[in-house]
Amino acid sequence: MMGEISDDDLRELVTLVKSQHNYDLGNYAAASLKRRVGRYLSQCGISFFELKYRLTNNQDFFPELLEALSVNVTEMFRDPFFYRALKEKVFPILATYPVIKIWHAGCSSGEEAFSMAIMLKEAGLLHRSRIYATDISREMLERAAAGIVPLHAMKDNTANYISAGGTEDFSEYYSARYDYAIISQEIRKQIIFSQHNLVTDYVFNEFQLVCCRNVLIYFNRPLQDNVIGLLTQSLAPLGFLAIGLKESLQFTSHYAKYATVDAQNKIFRLRG
Ligand SMILES: C[S@@+](CC[C@H](N)C(=O)[O-])C[C@H]1O[C@@H](n2cnc3c(N)ncnc32)[C@H](O)[C@@H]1O
Repeated sequence: MMGEISDDDLRELVTLVKSQHNYDLGNYAAASLKRRVGRYLSQCGISFFELKYRLTNNQDFFPELLEALSVNVTEMFRDPFFYRALKEKVFPILATYPVIKIWHAGCSSGEEAFSMAIMLKEAGLLHRSRIYATDISREMLERAAAGIVPLHAMKDNTANYISAGGTEDFSEYYSARYDYAIISQEIRKQIIFSQHNLVTDYVFNEFQLVCCRNVLIYFNRPLQDNVIGLLTQSLAPLGFLAIGLKESLQFTSHYAKYATVDAQNKIFRLRG
């Protein structure tokens, strides 16, 4: 049936992608991958057979499929208490650097990076911060670079901002247009959005803070370990790492390299 795939189909897909594109989808959490492939087939109105045909005969198709399979759900000031913890426990140390470099790995449509920029601005640190925000999805990055956030999400975003300890009038940070909001240029100007794949790409800079939140959850343990390794290599000495609240560092081989800064909000710091 269109829109559903079996466990055997999934195994076949993983093998095909590995042999044709040298990419290991076997490292993605299986149940969620199966659901996402099924959803993709329904959306495109194609059969599993057609999907395999495209993967075999059209080299440009695989990157498109990979993008389509990613889960891009995000919001501004997601888990507001995480931002409070950042402000209290991490910003005072970041403030001691002349230039503050932050990486948001898996930034989706940019809401997390916009939230960080707002917090930094309110702490008087934005002008000397460089925020690198990357994702695998070109479509999400285009939206992020344009500063577009759905207007219907602004009510929840505003409530999150207040819970995160925001001190200003949140509506000053965006202008409303039809059914979307545009984040102000002042907030966006220190953010560089670019494409980066955590599975296949390498370290590209050194950061005092790396946030990779709600991304690892889609990977299996060995891949989580590799990705945490990449994030660890991207940190400056004594740099901070933040992961999602449902994610864990404990089961990776890198855990001993970190001290816990805030267990509840999943903020860690490289040991000296
Ligand atoms: C659920 S969103 C999380 C967004 C944001 N960090 C947050 O917490 O709200 C997960 C993001 O990870 C991205 N992603 C998935 N696999 C990736 C990979 N291999 N490399 C880079 N980004 C990836 C997806 O495209 C998606 O935008």
